[in-house]
Amino acid sequence: MAYQLLKGKKGIIFGALDDKSLAWRTALRCHEEGASLLLTNAPVALRMGEINKLAIEVNAPLIGADVTNMDDLNKLFTGAMDHFGGKIDFILHSVGMSVNMRKGKPYTGLDYGFNQKTLDISATSLHRVLQTAYEMDAISKWGSVVAYSYIAAQRVFPDYNEMADAKALLESVARSFGYYYGIKNKVRVNTISQSPTKTTAGSGVKGFDGFQAYAEKMSPLGNASADDCAGFCAVLFSDLTRMVTMQNLFHDGGFSFTGVTEAVVREFEKNSDIPVK
Ligand SMILES: NC(=O)c1ccc[n+]([C@@H]2O[C@H](COP(=O)([O-])OP(=O)(O)OC[C@H]3O[C@@H](n4cnc5c(N)ncnc54)[C@H](O)[C@@H]3O)[C@@H](O)[C@H]2O)c1
Repeated sequence: MAYQLLKGKKGIIFGALDDKSLAWRTALRCHEEGASLLLTNAPVALRMGEINKLAIEVNAPLIGADVTNMDDLNKLFTGAMDHFGGKIDFILHSVGMSVNMRKGKPYTGLDYGFNQKTLDISATSLHRVLQTAYEMDAISKWGSVVAYSYIAAQRVFPDYNEMADAKALLESVARSFGYYYGIKNKVRVNTISQSPTKTTAGSGVKGFDGFQAYAEKMSPLGNASADDCAGFCAVLFSDLTRMVTMQNLFHDGGFSFTGVTEAVVREFEKNSDIPVK
């Protein structure tokens, strides 16, 4: 069910790769809620071609941009303002990639060149996007920016590797830039900390299926789906959340505040040979 929450609003969506992507689901929801969209992804992702299907479905132009390249970002925002005939009301940053994970390096054996690249793509890129928009005065008053994060920013999830540090930095950038952009133009900046979701980036995490099944059992409401995430994001882009900024908002069925569930305790009771100290 759609509510026309974003009627008349214009937004840029970063990071839709295929129909499982959180950004893809969010673009569909924003479209249903009445927004006009512009889609962007890395040039290599555009060459894969999947995103063209989404562009047709939501009637949005596509502009390629590597989030680590300031020229690309300048061209993207110039192109978006030309296309919309003015400022942008909302932006979704749904971008992440761990080079060390891709190369099979453990957290205790990182390559620091790869690590710099990971932090740039997955976290500093939010600063790059916000700084580009800030300097061009590209976001409307009361505009809204959301980036997708994960609870490994606060707690240890060993297989999440260097992405934990990237998410901690991402959330910090949202808080810090949220301060400056709030004062400048009432623009709000938040992160949504989403449940594990089976996407291309998600499945890149070692042991993802076990991880997701554990989170499902540890969450009173169960894991939040990509479509649930899209709905929450649309609310954050809407005028109903005008005073929410600089927050990391858990969207995880209650996982973040659950110590243990009876379902998990029962699993351990089944394996009662585990020695208790
Ligand atoms: N899937 C999960 O379990 C989960 C949970 C919480 C948060 N997140 C976060 O959600 C976001 C989206 O991930 P997803 O799970 O939808 O996976 P995804 O693989 O569909 O999306 C990641 C996107 O990042 C883009 N990207 C990578 N390098 C880029 C670059 N240099 N320039 C521009 N774009 C680039 C990719 O092309 C891709 O579209 C990520 O930040 C991810 O960490 C995912």
